Amino acid sequence: MIRINNNWEFTPSWSEDFMRGNAPGTAVRLPHTVRESPLHYASPADYEMVSGYRKVLDLPRDLAGKRVFLQFDGAAHIAEVYINEVKVAEHRSGYTAFRAEITDHLKDTGNVVAVRLDSTENSAIPPFGFVIDYLTFGGLYRDVWLDIRNSVYLDPPFITTPEPGEARVECAVQGDPSGLTKRISILSEAGDSIASAIVPAATLTASVPAPDARCWDLEDPVCYRCRVELLDGSGKVLDTVSETFGFRTVEFKDGAFYLNSRKVFVRGLNRHQCYPYAGYAVPEQLQREDARILKEELQVNAVRTSHYPQSHYFLDECDHRGLLVFTEIPGWQHIGDDAWKKQACENVREMVLQYRNHPSIFLWGVRINESLDDDDFYRETNRIAHELDPSRCTSGVRYIENSHLLEDVYSYNDFSHNGKTPGAMAKKAVTKEDAPLLISEANGHMFPTKAWDPWEKRQEHALRHARVLNAAMADGDHVGCYQWCMFDYPTHQDFGSGDRICYHGVMDYFRNAKPAAATHASQGQRHPVLEVISSMDIGDYAAGIIGNVTCLTNADEVRMYKNDKYVATFHSDPAFSALPHGPVTIDDTVGALLETEDRLKYEDLVRLYGLYIGNWGGQATAWRFDAVTDGEVVASVTKAPSRTLHLDVTASHTELKEGEVYDMAAVRIRLLDEYGNVAVYDPIPVTIMAEGPVEIVGPSVTVLEGGMGGTYLRTTGSSGTARVTLFTDQTEPVSLMFTVKQ
Ligand code: GAL
Repeated sequence: MIRINNNWEFTPSWSEDFMRGNAPGTAVRLPHTVRESPLHYASPADYEMVSGYRKVLDLPRDLAGKRVFLQFDGAAHIAEVYINEVKVAEHRSGYTAFRAEITDHLKDTGNVVAVRLDSTENSAIPPFGFVIDYLTFGGLYRDVWLDIRNSVYLDPPFITTPEPGEARVECAVQGDPSGLTKRISILSEAGDSIASAIVPAATLTASVPAPDARCWDLEDPVCYRCRVELLDGSGKVLDTVSETFGFRTVEFKDGAFYLNSRKVFVRGLNRHQCYPYAGYAVPEQLQREDARILKEELQVNAVRTSHYPQSHYFLDECDHRGLLVFTEIPGWQHIGDDAWKKQACENVREMVLQYRNHPSIFLWGVRINESLDDDDFYRETNRIAHELDPSRCTSGVRYIENSHLLEDVYSYNDFSHNGKTPGAMAKKAVTKEDAPLLISEANGHMFPTKAWDPWEKRQEHALRHARVLNAAMADGDHVGCYQWCMFDYPTHQDFGSGDRICYHGVMDYFRNAKPAAATHASQGQRHPVLEVISSMDIGDYAAGIIGNVTCLTNADEVRMYKNDKYVATFHSDPAFSALPHGPVTIDDTVGALLETEDRLKYEDLVRLYGLYIGNWGGQATAWRFDAVTDGEVVASVTKAPSRTLHLDVTASHTELKEGEVYDMAAVRIRLLDEYGNVAVYDPIPVTIMAEGPVEIVGPSVTVLEGGMGGTYLRTTGSSGTARVTLFTDQTEPVSLMFTVKQ
């Protein structure tokens, strides 16, 4: 398949004239958003339109005997495809791919494809018809492909691994298979063949023993390629298809989840697929970046693609990094009429057929998120999923207790924790069924938290995430817990903070960490984590008295020092004993420093208050926190008055690729004090300047919120070196260098 993302023309208002080439369009490249949106106060008005895309296809001269297809990976939301003014396809879901055969409508030259794209929130199709707590940006926002095949060709194979060391490969032939064979090869990612089989082409499913295959697992996510070649009688290859997969078993039994027969607690976050300014339209590397952030920075082992199937690049990165993915059909609380339900069933079919080789996916969500029971409808969605993929269990996300369980796993959004109540509901209060119970969401709207909220709020946000996870892990009745959610996201007027943003993320919209990110990160062991999530500044406290101080760490203990003098050592709070690493509460800031004096005079008390409590006058107080594992300091945080500030700027990647698609880099910006702490309360404007073959996506002046922000860069078609420089009035400028390669 060839990506055909370049040289499209776009009009925000579709017309037949545009389709016929008689009305102008502006030059665009895909992925494309119908209109860029602002960071705050984005709304459906930014994308609700019926737009048009048009492109002259560049086709090889000799197409005799060939079949020609176009594949659209993401067209939000209702797409009609025309080739040379003839309608060849209509697709009514913005979250799954579709193909259009154009063979019979091609001319010798000058073939024009046009797409009428309806990105209004049309209540005829999911997820529309009622309210939705997220924006549903429009555009041809994923790749478009040209696929030229022989008259006999292969469908994508479907690979299951019922046993370790056995691949079962289902691969259908389109056209007449007589006299043809299929050669199936299992290849390592380096391309070495580890197993193969030859079967008649008409054999739909073949078993390929691969005794040397290694298992796909969370810490060792080995992937393989399955290549199927269609051979004629003389051994000539007529067609080749290949898919990435992994050897692994996933099962639920006795109320627990097992990966390769090993019990695993599913510990994750929900992810939307949106980005500041660009909406849904970002290319491969940024999709992959979110999976990296989840695994490496947030150190979770799982993600739910709320509330729709997401980019294959994101899923592929989950495959390669070892994340467990719960993916689901589009929808939000509302179930429409029969035609709507039929489309939802079609969405199940497309989701399963298009995503079923990803080893990371372990569970299908076949209910409309948080909808009421509708047994006939959900019997059918379950039937379709099980028929198309007997290897995986189904679930569906509920907010109601004791709903009819037609799936294998009861997924429940447990919003019961309000800061005082237990972290999670007991299983018997959620379902009478003897089925595995998964928390699919928690927290979120129960405690929206902005990156610039007072520290107490940000700390409580982090602790609520810890309490819910602790409760879910403690009772032995939950197979896992996905919390709401990875990052802040734009939403409809019915939700959010007036600016139509749900500040529900453990990260901000640019994927900068709030304290709650460390709740999750500190459960992993990929790198040392230490966050002191309480303020150490007396001006942040009533009457200037610093109370208990909370740290999040994955180390054994935290040692505290005041002006380099040892105070005391603290361990994880026993109230969080079910967590791998519970929060650490520091309840003594005097510790070993305390002077013993027999008779204290009033002046002595004043002096001691200043020394231990007020911490003013004399030497400025520097608090140091050392995270210690096996006697070694693995991380250290210092909180002290800072005189200088600097920008900390990190790019998702600095080697950008130009070609059949542009590349985008995410740049995260933080304002740090001289000890590396985020300067939360300094909303400083940052001017961004790009030189060379990249452009800034979004505004060139941005204001840091909670000391954090970001920008995006997009390649502009040529290669070379690019420099991006960020300026503020209070810091030295910072430049990042990028290379753009063709
Ligand atoms: C759930 C819903 C999510 C999000 C969340 C906020 O009810 O499924 O999409 O709105 O609440 O907490």
